Amino acid sequence: MDMENLYDLFVEQLRDIYYAENQLLKALKKMSEKATCPDLSAAYSEHLEETRGQIETLERVMQSLDLEVKGEKCEAIMGILKEADELISETENEAVRDAAMILAAQKVEHYEIATYGTLCAFADCLGLDAQAELLRNILAEERSADEKLTKLAMNLKNGVNKTAMQEAA
Ligand SMILES: [Fe+2]
Ligand SMILES: [Fe+2]
Repeated sequence: MDMENLYDLFVEQLRDIYYAENQLLKALKKMSEKATCPDLSAAYSEHLEETRGQIETLERVMQSLDLEVKGEKCEAIMGILKEADELISETENEAVRDAAMILAAQKVEHYEIATYGTLCAFADCLGLDAQAELLRNILAEERSADEKLTKLAMNLKNGVNKTAMQEAA
């Protein structure tokens, strides 16, 4: 697709993240079963539900702009998910795998935060107030998912990490 103005770029990125969220939905389903730590598993399941809602919200955004609802292949998310898959399949120790899952999930969240943050700014510039508000709701969910993961990572010392570190010693 030729992008000649900010609106075109906005639409292209909207479709990119729509594709990414659909891939993430599949990945989260698969990965939530691999977590050992109950808090991590809960964080994955909770975000899985949020992702479902985000996909619907993105569909609303596209429909509100009379756009055909469709995704556009996002190479970046495929790369992040491929790396996550490799990392997880290479960790046999459950505690270490949980730590790898936190890492993989945080990389995804940061990718999403970057995209939604920019999409919100673009929507503001384009005067798309209603769409900006919908996208801001998603951005808030991504930020809070990221914060939860940071807390889990910090708690690794007490839970996941303790076992992981002991086994490393
Ligand atoms: Fe998302
Ligand atoms: Fe997310």
